[in-house]
Amino acid sequence: MIRSAIRGIGSALPKKVVKNSDLESIVETSDEWIVQRTGIRQRHIANRNETTVSLGAEAARKALKAAALNVDDIDLIVLATSTPNHTFPASATEIQKALGMTRGVAFDLQAVCSGFVFALTTADLYLRGGMAKRALVIGSETFSRILDWKDRTTCVLFGDGAGAVVLEAIEGKGTNDDRGILAARLRSDGRHMDKLYVDGGASTTQTVGHLRMEGREVFKYAVGMITDVVDDCFAATGISAEQLDWFVPHQANKRIIDASARKLGIAENKVVITVGEHGNTSAASVPLALDQAVKDGRIKKGDLVMLEAMGGGFTWGAVLLRW
Ligand code: UT7
Repeated sequence: MIRSAIRGIGSALPKKVVKNSDLESIVETSDEWIVQRTGIRQRHIANRNETTVSLGAEAARKALKAAALNVDDIDLIVLATSTPNHTFPASATEIQKALGMTRGVAFDLQAVCSGFVFALTTADLYLRGGMAKRALVIGSETFSRILDWKDRTTCVLFGDGAGAVVLEAIEGKGTNDDRGILAARLRSDGRHMDKLYVDGGASTTQTVGHLRMEGREVFKYAVGMITDVVDDCFAATGISAEQLDWFVPHQANKRIIDASARKLGIAENKVVITVGEHGNTSAASVPLALDQAVKDGRIKKGDLVMLEAMGGGFTWGAVLLRW
């Protein structure tokens, strides 16, 4: 049977680093509050020339290099983003152009912080359905552009960045020993829109708008939703938390990550945490964390890795794969 395996990974971060202490002069906050409540110590913020497209293209180039492939080997680009360069065309087609790719198909997918997990699952279905052989799956965001920099309850939480993987169709035996995606579960529930949304849009206000979040309300749902889809992936494969090598969660808040891992019975030393350095980079957070753990040698070929995310919509999902 066909499996979708990750052949290369890359990421990109804006040059500018903003520390918690830098925010103390912008809003009434403190390094102590931010670290204690979220685990965030700093985030990268894009300058005028750094965009969702430029960061996404940089991450994609690095993923292609790591995979020892070029754009002519790619049939599909799925870009997860909520902060596109333009209302249309899809930023994925702008990345396609930036990469010099003139074949295949490229489109955006919007599931906010769950975007990368949704995009990876969508690309997996394309590959397993025979519609593509190799895909670039990218999560790229410039959330700094949609933050209300007067609102301390949100502006301290987010950062900019991008991560990308090359997903390739390979032949598997249909067992849990196969490399590639072994299980995926996606969910959404639109009744929760008011807890996390952007108050602008082409069809409503004709403005881009600002991110609005009732953080405490989101927090209340996060752990339950995350653990539900992760448990579904365990049940679908018969793989247990003890067998897992690495847990790469969405990086919104260290307290949510810790509580989810605890509830799932995943040991602390298997959890990849980058929220301290990146803040919440929405659709970029999972591939950024994955890239870090691959680059520093933690994730090795054959390891069992669980990815998960939860965000606006609400949307939530998990992917279990063998590296
Ligand atoms: O990625 C998409 C999913 N998003 C998330 O997962 C975010 C989920 N939510 C969270 O991570 C947390 O709820 C927050 C980090 C957003 C907030 O932490 P909390 O422990 O839930 O704090 P809170 O909202 O209950 O606020 C506690 C206090 C409030 O003051 P009062 O009402 O108790 O007097 C806030 O006004 O902290 C105050 N506060 C701040 N103080 C200093 C809120 N933001 C700040 C701030 N600096 N930046």
